[in-house]
Amino acid sequence: MITFQFTEEQNMIRDMVREFTKKEVEPRDKWMDENGFDYDLHKKLTQAGLMGIHLAEKYGGGGGDAVTSIIVIHELAKGSASVALFLDANWLAADLILYHGSEAQKDKYLPLAAQGKIFAFGLTESSAGSDAAGIKSTVVPAEDGGWILNGGKAWITNSGVADYYVILAKTDPEAGNKGISAFIVPKEVEGLTVGKFEDKMGMRGSATCELSFDNIHLPADALLGDLGKGFKMAMEALDGARISIGAIAAGLSEHAMTVAKNYANERMTFGKPIAKHQGIQFKFADMAAEIRAMELLTYDTARMKAEGKRHTLEAAETKLFSGTRCTQICLECQQVLGGNGYSKEYNVERFVRDAKLLEIGEGTNEILRMLIGGTVLAQK
Ligand code: CAA
Repeated sequence: MITFQFTEEQNMIRDMVREFTKKEVEPRDKWMDENGFDYDLHKKLTQAGLMGIHLAEKYGGGGGDAVTSIIVIHELAKGSASVALFLDANWLAADLILYHGSEAQKDKYLPLAAQGKIFAFGLTESSAGSDAAGIKSTVVPAEDGGWILNGGKAWITNSGVADYYVILAKTDPEAGNKGISAFIVPKEVEGLTVGKFEDKMGMRGSATCELSFDNIHLPADALLGDLGKGFKMAMEALDGARISIGAIAAGLSEHAMTVAKNYANERMTFGKPIAKHQGIQFKFADMAAEIRAMELLTYDTARMKAEGKRHTLEAAETKLFSGTRCTQICLECQQVLGGNGYSKEYNVERFVRDAKLLEIGEGTNEILRMLIGGTVLAQK
């Protein structure tokens, strides 16, 4: 159990989301794995005030901060990693408007975010994932002062269900990462094609598609933040999202451990519950310690974000540790269930499939190791 100190209000939100997760989220996780995104659940998340919990009250939000949003993602992940990922990707995009939007953009879009409109973050392309500065989509000025967007994106979480996309594109292809800018693109714009839903290994309750852009005309005020600042904006946004991945990993690991614990206390071998065998107890010892470490890393980094401190290194460490340990914990839980762990009926095989994404999306383990290793070795 986490000992991190929350405010009274954060404790109330945690209890509320924990209850909501038990009642509304966990029972639907298997359904989402089989059927995809759950619009009814999205409606309930909105009604519960969770979509804009961290936005200021003047935008219709709940007035929380970066720690509050991590509490919500962590608690949701204890019932469904997919739903937690949906919200993470939603905030990854919408918060770019919160942090970089003009007053007019914030007044227009943030109330919509609080009302449940869905946002998606469009950085990755089929030929540019880890090498984010290598994207090829372009935006050029239009004659009327607006913009023309061409190109495409791949692996965009929430695509197909999103109302708005925040798209990163080259506005100056010769300028490397300094020639990338961000644009707000509504789903109904002419020239936007959303491809079929990816048939993914896990996280199947979150939607993922390809996008293609064919001479999309955008108004002048579609530009988000300064021209040429999009790469830095995206990297900063990913610093925040990597904390969310830590929260998803902690929540999903706890979900898996709870299922395995219930099983271990009931399943009999050699005349006693398997929980009484040392080989099983040792697994739970390691899992419990690692989950606590994930929680502490996650909330400490969220605290840094809430205090406005740069957290690039800490977020990468949080995601690397939590993502890798989560996959191993889910595999160990599957092992505890033996043959039953291999059956869809017992859910743990789904957790294994969900967990793997945490080592790939929003910065692969390899990219994170490069980032952490490079930073640590350069420190004086
Ligand atoms: N905060 C602020 N500035 C940053 C920054 C950060 N976190 N990271 C980089 N920058 C700045 C640097 O300071 C540098 O600025 P200067 O040129 O002024 O010095 C500039 O950005 C370029 O930085 P790098 O030279 O480090 O850039 P790079 O091209 O070598 O790439 C990288 C660095 C870390 C590998 C980066 O490309 C990266 O993080 N790649 C992974 C991308 C990723 O996580 N993609 C996931 C997309 S989202 C997703 O998975 C799906 C979804 O739908 C949610």
